[in-house]
Amino acid sequence: MELQWKGKWAVVTAASRGIGFAIADKLAEEGANLIVCSRHRESIDEAAASLKKHGTEVIARAVDVSDAGSLQAFVKEVAAERESIDALVCNAGGPPGGGFLSFDDEAWEKAFATNVMSVVRLVRGFYPLLKQQGGRIVTIASTSVKEPIPGLVLSNTMRTGVTGLMKTLSVELGPDGILVNTVCPGRIETDRIQELDRARAEREGRSEEEIRKAMEAQIPLGRYGRPEELADLAAFLLSPRNTYLTGSTYFVDGGMVKSL
Ligand SMILES: NC(=O)c1ccc[n+]([C@@H]2O[C@H](COP(=O)([O-])OP(=O)(O)OC[C@H]3O[C@@H](n4cnc5c(N)ncnc54)[C@H](OP(=O)(O)O)[C@@H]3O)[C@@H](O)[C@H]2O)c1
Repeated sequence: MELQWKGKWAVVTAASRGIGFAIADKLAEEGANLIVCSRHRESIDEAAASLKKHGTEVIARAVDVSDAGSLQAFVKEVAAERESIDALVCNAGGPPGGGFLSFDDEAWEKAFATNVMSVVRLVRGFYPLLKQQGGRIVTIASTSVKEPIPGLVLSNTMRTGVTGLMKTLSVELGPDGILVNTVCPGRIETDRIQELDRARAEREGRSEEEIRKAMEAQIPLGRYGRPEELADLAAFLLSPRNTYLTGSTYFVDGGMVKSL
């Protein structure tokens, strides 16, 4: 496995913790060199120090993917160093929870910049580097693309847009040998999920434990997933082993989504 990644480079955004970190960690374990980023310099440097334990090269940058200028500078810097990259993970923090009437234009625009435009700008920016060797792209969305989640109107709206974008890209970039897929977490145990459970508990005057139990009862496997369980799939889709999967949306949800 390691030989397949030898000398290859993957860019993973929003990688200081949670799902982004788990994917970066899996890729490095499999032998990939990494360029990782997140907003906070200290957090991403700490993550990079941990990722280095696998013995591959790890470059860390402080980048806010919701900010066009920050992303442009990041892409420019990578392009100045490398002629090609082999894999790109488009990940970002999730938008705040809340219903339709709780958000003004600014909140909608922020969510659009963070969760849609970041993907547009990342793919556009890294396209010249990805097409050199026929790269792989994975974007992290949510099971809400199949079944909108109550109280998450911003996420529900942005994720479906991104999934449509990824399907379109699989058609447009296929001739360049670029394979494009979307991975949708259900309830993966990260800071984000803890925050959402805490907010819901407060809203409903219930304990966090009650909320979690109620959520777990809706998951056929009876538990939240681990970030590594999602990272395994993402690493496969991003790897040279993936030669024929593109334009698809995968759910890592323990069976939570009930539709076909
Ligand atoms: N966990 C789940 O079950 C689940 C379910 C559905 C969807 N998702 C989505 O999957 C994505 C990852 O979720 P997670 O649970 O891993 O989240 P998390 O635990 O909150 O981690 C978020 C990561 O994103 C970075 N980040 C946040 N905003 C950023 C920005 N504007 N630019 C660059 N980096 C940024 C954070 O680092 P810094 O603070 O240093 O920037 C951190 O590394 C989110 O979009 C989330 O909504 C997750």
